Amino acid sequence: SVAAASAIAEAPAAPAVPQGPREATILFGSQTGNSQRLAGRLAEKLKGEGFEVTLSAMNKYKTNNLKKAGYLFIVASTHGEGDPPDNAMSFHEFLHSKRAPKLDEVKFSVLALGDTSYEFFCKTGQDFDAKLAELGAQRIVDRVDCDVDFEDSAAGWLAAVTSAVTAAPAAAVQSTAGAAVSASAAATESEYSRNNPFMAEVLDNLNLNGRGSDRETRHVELSLEGSGLTYAPGDAVGVYPTNDPALVDAIIAELKWNSEDAVVTGKAGETSSLRTALLHHFEITVLTKPLLEKAVAFSGSSKLADLVKPENKEELKAYTTGRDLLDLLRDHGPWTLAAADVATLLRKLPPRLYSIASSINSHPEEVHLTIRKVEYEAHGRERKGVCSVFASERLEAGDKLPIFIQQNPNFKLPVNPDTPVIMVGPGTGVAPFRAFLEEREELGAGGQTWLFYGDRHFVTDFLYQTDWQRMLKDGVLTNLDVAFSRDSKEKVYVQQRMLENGEELYKWLQNGAHVYVCGDEKHMAHDVHAALLSIIGQYGGKSPEAAAAYVSELQDQGRYQRDVY
Ligand code: 2AM
Repeated sequence: SVAAASAIAEAPAAPAVPQGPREATILFGSQTGNSQRLAGRLAEKLKGEGFEVTLSAMNKYKTNNLKKAGYLFIVASTHGEGDPPDNAMSFHEFLHSKRAPKLDEVKFSVLALGDTSYEFFCKTGQDFDAKLAELGAQRIVDRVDCDVDFEDSAAGWLAAVTSAVTAAPAAAVQSTAGAAVSASAAATESEYSRNNPFMAEVLDNLNLNGRGSDRETRHVELSLEGSGLTYAPGDAVGVYPTNDPALVDAIIAELKWNSEDAVVTGKAGETSSLRTALLHHFEITVLTKPLLEKAVAFSGSSKLADLVKPENKEELKAYTTGRDLLDLLRDHGPWTLAAADVATLLRKLPPRLYSIASSINSHPEEVHLTIRKVEYEAHGRERKGVCSVFASERLEAGDKLPIFIQQNPNFKLPVNPDTPVIMVGPGTGVAPFRAFLEEREELGAGGQTWLFYGDRHFVTDFLYQTDWQRMLKDGVLTNLDVAFSRDSKEKVYVQQRMLENGEELYKWLQNGAHVYVCGDEKHMAHDVHAALLSIIGQYGGKSPEAAAAYVSELQDQGRYQRDVY
């Protein structure tokens, strides 16, 4: 018909008229690098649409440009008890202060990364989203909150944002969105990635702790041969572990399931047997709120229905802490849960990130990891860390392990090899510093280096002791201070060694040293931070406020970097 013909003829002649600004600012707050990578993907897409794009870490962004940002896109992760990543701290504070400008000319959207097993899931992203709206900015795409398996939700947000700013008919954009996303992903990532892990051969797997230690820490050497993968000191490896077969079998037995029943494990409808699915594809050791909410439909227990009610938040937290899928199945039957339902109920088994313990220049085509076995007792049962126990008990030389490299731009040696570095890494936190020092050794770098290391006992727990001795001898390691917490009556920790050396440490800072902290976030990194503030206060003659400003200045200059977990 005529009408149809003219519609067809007109379609190409009426391209979507881009509306709104042609400038976009993309800010990320990223600790492990995921938010940064996704922000980079959005930047590529928008540049492809002809936008002038500013892509920046939040702490590097000049906030007086904010009013004129045009489009403002935020990608931010959340840590610990709802905390912003280190490089989002100052921007988060700025937006929530009286200095925050009116933003009525800005159009925005937020992508939040988080983990539903934490109470303050995606809090940082939610803060930004609410604050920007409050400052008058116009939300053009609803915030998306991503769980640990963030890829699909993030791809959806990227497509929605691109569609919104190009003002193209939604249907047309939708049909190409998937292709566009994977094309840009392919352009920025190597052949092997989080979604397509490399099967790395295990070359060696040693226990670093001496006989009699109450710890077990594995040094795992992997081959990258044939992968084309490379990395820099400070990067991490993502490992896809296998769940504990004993736990898998107990779960199957609990519901009298058949191990061979088919379960869907992939988006394209791939299936595997129930046992394989529970071993390799699904998370069975963590109870999240969304999991419990979904489980209600399959459970005959009214207790479970009560537990997920908003007014029982505290009870829910108490119940989920330290419990796993087997507990849920035992505590809240009778169940009408078929094997096939696990695919709708459970999260994908997320990879575990380990800070790399080697320099690729010292060990061509290899990557080394330091993995401490996590085992504890809770609610009357022995609990095992999924990946660490797998690495200790079921991973041998010759096995193949699915891995990928996770770049960490926020934990990098100074560009100048002469810049002094101070490294604080008790326990497995020392891993990246082996990489740092090996790298400087290979480069013949001249900068001074100072390592603070601690663990329980000198005799059994001095990880990589012979490496440090060699490095002291060849001069790449200039200062080594150790704190073995359980060799003396009074506990000593790394921060105590820092305080004892406060005057010297402050001199190093004044000489431009970079400070790196790796390891436990909740206790160690917190206490080390306090020690740093106190040293700066005391030896720099500064008030607590001035010392805090000194530290945030260090942070903004990339001179105080943390890899904490
Ligand atoms: P502990 O187990 O004797 O308490 C590596 O785990 C080392 O970090 C251990 O020596 C451990 O001591 C110590 N550690 C525990 N809490 C710490 C904290 N808040 N600050 C620094 N080190 C800590």
